Amino acid sequence: MPAIVLVGAQWGDEGKGKATDALGAQLDYVVKFNGGNNAGHTVVVGGETYALHLLPSGILTPGCTPVIGNGVVVDLAVLFEEIDGLTARGVDCSALRVSANAHVIAPYHRVVDKVTERFLGKRRIGTTGRGIGPAYADKINRVGVRIQDVFDEGILRQKVEGALDQKNHLLAKVYNRRAIGVDEIVDELLGYVDRLRPMVCDTGIELVRGLDEGKTVLFEAGQATMLDVDHGTYPFVTSSSATAAGACTGSGVPPNRIDTVIAVVKAYTTRVGEGPFPTELHDEDGQRLRQQGAEFGTTTGRPRRCGWYDAPIARYAARVNGVTDFVLTKLDVLTGWDRIPVCVAYDVDGVRHDEIPMTQSDFHHATPVYEHLDGWSEDISGCRTLEELPKAAQRYVQALEDVSGARISAVGVGPSRDDLIVLHDMV
Ligand code: GDP
Ligand code: IMO
Ligand code: MG
Repeated sequence: MPAIVLVGAQWGDEGKGKATDALGAQLDYVVKFNGGNNAGHTVVVGGETYALHLLPSGILTPGCTPVIGNGVVVDLAVLFEEIDGLTARGVDCSALRVSANAHVIAPYHRVVDKVTERFLGKRRIGTTGRGIGPAYADKINRVGVRIQDVFDEGILRQKVEGALDQKNHLLAKVYNRRAIGVDEIVDELLGYVDRLRPMVCDTGIELVRGLDEGKTVLFEAGQATMLDVDHGTYPFVTSSSATAAGACTGSGVPPNRIDTVIAVVKAYTTRVGEGPFPTELHDEDGQRLRQQGAEFGTTTGRPRRCGWYDAPIARYAARVNGVTDFVLTKLDVLTGWDRIPVCVAYDVDGVRHDEIPMTQSDFHHATPVYEHLDGWSEDISGCRTLEELPKAAQRYVQALEDVSGARISAVGVGPSRDDLIVLHDMV
C-alpha cells in the first residue's frame, strides 16, 4: 500500500510528527502538503529532541526523501534556519525537494497577520503570527508570490509590487503602520536564490513517478481536521486544507492513488488559540493534563487548552478523512486518574446530538455527555503489547475504538520513537 495520508483528528498537536517518524524506515518519501511554519512537531529519537516546523518529519530518517508540496506556504528565512539547525546536529537535509508552485510567506504577510489579530481584538483567532493566513489569502486572491517567481527578478518585482499595492494602503491608512518597500522584499528574496535552486523541482511529477515505481509515499498534514479551513471550526481555523483531501490538491497526486488514511488522535483533547472546545476543562484536571502531557505549544510556547476525549470529533474526523487507522497517542498521560470521562455525544439546549451540530452557534452551546471509564495507576511507558497494559487501559483503548469510527492500529505510551504499541501494520 504505497500512498498513505496521515492527518490530525482533533485541533493539532496529536503527535503527527512522532507517528510519521515511527513509520519513517518504511517510507521512501514524506510530503508536507499544507500549512507552513505554524506547525510544530516534536520528535524524540534516541534521547535527542527535534522541533520541526516547516520540514516534513521524514527529514529525520536517512534514505527518506522529504518533500515540500505545492500546497505549503514557505517562509524562506525559516526554511534555511531550520535546515542549518538540523545540519549542525548531523541531520542530512540534502535530499529535500521543494515544489516550484509552493507559495512564499514574505515579511509583509507576518506584519499583516499580527496587525489583523490586534485589530480583531476579542474576535481574534489566536494565530501563530507566522503570516500563514495572509499568505494563503494572497494565493486565493491571485496576488501570491510562488517559489518559481524568485528565479526571475523581473517577474518577482512585478508580483511583489502587485502584492504590496493594496497592503501598503491598508497598513499606512487603516493600521497606521509604515509602508513596506518593494526593494527590501525583492532583495531579501533574491538572497535565497542560490541555496534554493538545487532543491526546487516539479514535485508532482517526482511523486507520481515514484508511486509508479512502487515507492512508498506518506503525506503528512500540518494542523488537523478541526483546524481545516472547510471542515474545521471556522473561523477559528488555519487557512489551509489539513484534511486528507488536501493531500491531493497540495501535492499533485490524484485521489485514486491514496490507499490508507491514518489519523493521529490524542487519548484526550487539546487546542491552542481561540474557538469552541466542548470538553475543555477549566479545573484541576485540565491543569493536570497540561502538566502531565507537557501541553505547551512547540511553535509559540503557549499553554494548550486541555479537555477529555471527544468521540463525536473522532467520528467526524473518521468520516471527513476516510480514516482507515487511528494512531492513539499519549495514553501514558492518563495514568493516575481513578475515573476517566469520555464524551460520547453533546447536549445542545436539552437535545442530544451524536454528531457535531450543523451550526457553529449550536456547537458553541454544546456540552459533553460523558461516560466514565475506570482509570489505572501503573506506569505504562514500558508496555510494547496490548496485553502488557493494565486491564483498565486495555478497556479504555477498546472503548475509544468502539466509539471513534475506525480501528486503532497503534497506541503511544511515551514521546520517544519506540514508545509505541503496534496493533496492526499500516504500511
Ligand atoms: P504534532 O504537531 O501533531 O506533531 O504534535 P506535537 O509534536 O506538537 O505535540 C505532541 C507532543 O507529544 C510532542 O511533544 C511529542 O513528543 C509528544 N508525544 C507524542 N506521542 C506521545 C505519547 O504517546 N506519549 C507522550 N507522553 N508524549 C507523546
Ligand atoms: P501542528 O501541525 C495546533 C492554530 C493556531 C490558531 C489557528 C490559526 O503542530 O498540529 P494560523 O497561524 O495557522 O493562522 O493560526 O490555528 N494552529 C495550530 N494549533 N497545532 C498546530 O500545528 C497549529 N497550527 C495552527 O493556534 O488557533
Ligand atoms: Mg504541533
